Amino acid sequence: MKTRNFIAFAMAGFFGLAMITSCGGGKTGDQSTTDSTAVKDQAADPNVPSAEQMAMGKAIYETPGKCITCHMANGQGVASVFPNLVGSQFLLNSKVLAVTQVLNGSAKVGNKTIKYPAPMLPQVGSADSAVAVINYVLNSFGNKGGMVTVDEVKDVVIDPR
Ligand code: HEC
Repeated sequence: MKTRNFIAFAMAGFFGLAMITSCGGGKTGDQSTTDSTAVKDQAADPNVPSAEQMAMGKAIYETPGKCITCHMANGQGVASVFPNLVGSQFLLNSKVLAVTQVLNGSAKVGNKTIKYPAPMLPQVGSADSAVAVINYVLNSFGNKGGMVTVDEVKDVVIDPR
């Protein structure tokens, strides 16, 4: 009797599991041919950074002393002192340069039409971090600026500190 109950229980468990997995696969199968997690589906869109990268970029942006200190919580900066990142033509149109600026500072990037009293100093030390935070600002505060990949910035040399 006990053994029978166990077998019945095990079978129910097996079918239950089979239903869950087939259901999960079916839901996302039309969007992704490989795996079916939400993050991977999102990463498959070439214009939207992954949720993981957005979270990493947000954490960097909000670190005290980093971006948020000058460009403010809403990305709008301080008039004539720290530029507004919302709708910034430099950010939206020169993504690789924006990543370079976060790595090596604005003095190295130059070519700005609007001059600010002080340059922006280097902010982060790795391409992964720089790409994450630029993708975050490209897709925050109302910006819908697409994204840049680590591969696109592979030729950017990080200055020694
Ligand atoms: C200490 C203040 C300060 C911090 C911290 C800072 N910035 Fe800046 N940022 C500036 C200043 C000043 C400029 C303008 C520099 C220039 O044009 O030479 C600037 C310019 C920019 C620009 C170009 C905008 C435009 O339209 O010219 C981007 C993009 C940017 N910062 C992103 C970031 C990100 C992302 C971070 C955090 C990783 C960050 N900044 C941290 C002060 C800061």
